[in-house]
Amino acid sequence: MNYRHAFHAGNFADVMKHIILTRLIEYLKLKPGAFRVIDTHAGLGRYSLTGDEAKRNPEWKEGIAKLLKAELGARPAELVKPYLDVIAAENPNSTLSRYPGSPLIARKLFRPQDRLSALELHPKDARELNKLFDGDVQARITALDGWLALNAYVPPKEKRGLVLVDPPFEEKGEWERLVDGLYKAHRKWATGLYALWYPMKEPREINAFVADLKRTGITRMMRVELLIDAPVAGRMFGSGMILVNPPFVLEDELKSILPALVKALAPGKGSHRIEWIRGEA
Ligand SMILES: C[S@@+](CC[C@H](N)C(=O)[O-])C[C@H]1O[C@@H](n2cnc3c(N)ncnc32)[C@H](O)[C@@H]1O
Repeated sequence: MNYRHAFHAGNFADVMKHIILTRLIEYLKLKPGAFRVIDTHAGLGRYSLTGDEAKRNPEWKEGIAKLLKAELGARPAELVKPYLDVIAAENPNSTLSRYPGSPLIARKLFRPQDRLSALELHPKDARELNKLFDGDVQARITALDGWLALNAYVPPKEKRGLVLVDPPFEEKGEWERLVDGLYKAHRKWATGLYALWYPMKEPREINAFVADLKRTGITRMMRVELLIDAPVAGRMFGSGMILVNPPFVLEDELKSILPALVKALAPGKGSHRIEWIRGEA
């Protein structure tokens, strides 16, 4: 467990992932019934952008910092607003110094009835995350293997919600675990919303992953990608997400958000993809 998200917090991949997370939560909030967000690989919850890791590797300058300076256009700006509001609330004096991770972003968007289950295996990170949510009855933090939770925590008792799976991809076999984990969780809870993140480093690896996903037979499964460069082997040139049971409005929203992100973060060389791996049954 060497992965430290503090080196990457607020980079282009976080921006894409967290904007999609906020769109999914905003959608869940349209109905009054309570929902749960299960964050299987939660991280620290809050990252300093002035700390050692972020200073050594200021990836956030190519991500959130660029987005904050960009002219997005009316519709993308409206869709991205809930995300940018959370960023602004984390940085009240308007200097960008902190970046919220997925559990904190989700929690900030909750209504009183909504709940968070966050898993983080790294003992130190789990302690920090616990501290961040100390006394919060809407958030439960557990220092447990997120892969186990992916199976054990579904369906949540609210029977509505979202499972975010955002592993570090530092160990062999994580692509296969992602497919297998989704397959098993989906068998227990077929109507849940699932969002899986993956890095784009090797096109062959991604093609094999998508082929495996197709073989699960899971329907209503969408592939969304933001590329900041042409594929270069060994370097992360893009960020991808697999969405299962996405709200039907999301495709249209992404058609507005992703081109705006390309323009803001990688003008002239970036691109995006929105594709159904399998549509309706
Ligand atoms: C990519 S980071 C998560 C970032 C976070 N989801 C966000 O968007 O802010 C992956 C995290 O998973 C943790 N981790 C690694 N293996 C794990 C496991 N088996 N179960 C739970 N957490 C794990 C790492 O310590 C790291 O904090």
